[in-house]
Amino acid sequence: MNSKALRKKFLDFFAKRGHTVVPSSSLIPTDSTVLFTTAGMQQFIPFLSGKVKPPHPKACSCQKCFRTDDIDEVGDKFHHTFFEMLGNWSFGDYFKEGAIEFALEFLIKECRIPKERLCFTIFKGEERLPRDVQSLKIWQKQGIPKEKIWEFGTKENLWGPVGKTGPCGPCSEIHYDQTLTPCKRGKNCGPNCDCERFVEIWNLVFMEYNKNGKGEYESLAQKNIDTGIGFERLTAVLQEKDSDYETDLFLPLLEKIEEFSGKKYKDFVKEFRIISDHTRGAVFLIAEGIFPSNLERGYVLRRVLRRAIRYGKTLNLPENFLIPLTQKVIEIYRDIYPEIKSKETDILTVLQKEEEKFEKTLERGLAQFARLLKSKIILPAEGHGAKTIEGKEVFDLYQSFGFPLELTRELVREKGLEVDEKGFFEAQKKHQEISKSGAEKKFGGHDIEKIKDEESKIKMTKLHTATHLLHQALREVLGEHAKQMGSDINTERLRFDFSHSQKMSEEELRKVEALLNQKIKEDLEVKKEEMDYEEALKSGALAFFKEKYPEKVSVYSINNWSKEICAGPHVKRTGELGHFKIIKEESCQAGVRRIKAILE
Ligand code: SER
Repeated sequence: MNSKALRKKFLDFFAKRGHTVVPSSSLIPTDSTVLFTTAGMQQFIPFLSGKVKPPHPKACSCQKCFRTDDIDEVGDKFHHTFFEMLGNWSFGDYFKEGAIEFALEFLIKECRIPKERLCFTIFKGEERLPRDVQSLKIWQKQGIPKEKIWEFGTKENLWGPVGKTGPCGPCSEIHYDQTLTPCKRGKNCGPNCDCERFVEIWNLVFMEYNKNGKGEYESLAQKNIDTGIGFERLTAVLQEKDSDYETDLFLPLLEKIEEFSGKKYKDFVKEFRIISDHTRGAVFLIAEGIFPSNLERGYVLRRVLRRAIRYGKTLNLPENFLIPLTQKVIEIYRDIYPEIKSKETDILTVLQKEEEKFEKTLERGLAQFARLLKSKIILPAEGHGAKTIEGKEVFDLYQSFGFPLELTRELVREKGLEVDEKGFFEAQKKHQEISKSGAEKKFGGHDIEKIKDEESKIKMTKLHTATHLLHQALREVLGEHAKQMGSDINTERLRFDFSHSQKMSEEELRKVEALLNQKIKEDLEVKKEEMDYEEALKSGALAFFKEKYPEKVSVYSINNWSKEICAGPHVKRTGELGHFKIIKEESCQAGVRRIKAILE
């Protein structure tokens, strides 16, 4: 069964059984406490917790997920950064019995997996939570013999919550037996055994608790079901492959790497897997509008990209090898996730720019690393030598050669040494302090005094309101993709960065200016309202830095034309602004343009 057919089969199966097919949500979750969507249930948390009444009692989906925790495992058979998760949900509808029946029917009848290949786990209980006797009975009622049902504790069989608090519950997992042959542990070889005979394919979570801020488990008002299948894993099982990477989801990538490197996958399994996993992950992150940077999500993107490039070097892949690989990823997913198709140009541009940027310093960085290592080598004759690479040297690799800390750590560990991480963070902090005091010296005194000055404050407030107008004007002239990526205001000008991949034409610039000046002429009221963050989003207000907003926010709207969550301050009416003029439009980074503008 090819992967496309499997996705469809799963969703059709549950749709036929009364589930609403819900599209995948973004990889950037609305929940501000986590960086990425890591499970299919995340978009349903308000329904699972009982805070919001669900529009449908049962749902199913194929969800894009990204897990940074697993990054060091990538290279083995089944781990990924980006992956897809198939799932079905019941919000107070069916519970354990229904979930178990559906799962068995799907795997055995629809996917034709022989029953003897399946093993099961249940929660054995802990101090505060009871053993899951019901699930044990239900599996047995379904004809599963006792010896095929294994019991595990909190680590393996108590799932959630995402973040520190929220819905969670005991789970029952379905594992696939790849070899039917026990390892040297004999009878003790079962699901979760180190020998990797079993691969977990489906997790059925019985969400009946809410973990509160004190770490206590409270019973939820309704009992829910949340299940998750590792889509790549099930694909591998059904295609009878030894690993996810040998399925139709990755094979085209492996073939490209073979073609470009002249090397065989079987000789460089880990490298091939890392390169293809990370390229695929990067494509999906960029499609969400994330750009490589040194912060949060942008840093994760940069890290996976640079790691892929570094492994590419070890296979002697040519410069820009990420481009043909990316094209393959796009081919595989363009019909499944519309954003992969619509963002194709952005994806390729960002990847190419980042690759070029890192390529320039990678070789020099690796040479520097080799020198560093040489100076640390333990000479047996002398019987001593350093076992760690000092933090400031690691920081230098980061600062001068763009090596993320994790990359250096990996290079260092390959040589049996360690990185002085504390030293790295100290060096980083020192550097930041020096740059800050440098900047204060440069702009300080004079400018800070000026900003305090009433006149400057008014000027900056005006520029702030003009920024909101500019943002909306850009969205109108260029399209809704033109999103705020950054903003800076000083007493002289505004600076606005936004996502857009080409240079703006003269005509577009004129249109934006004209539109803005018209709004100024109309002398529109700038209205401020206080509301809940969620309510603000629902009302259509734009928010750009999701993770930073408090629960109660201010929304500034200008005649319902522009509406943004913002802390202010703003002028009362647009008529106060004067005449708006763009003085510069330039590239800021790949896929991001920068406008500087003034009010005359
Ligand atoms: N939330 C569970 C998981 O991520 C089941 O969907 O495994």
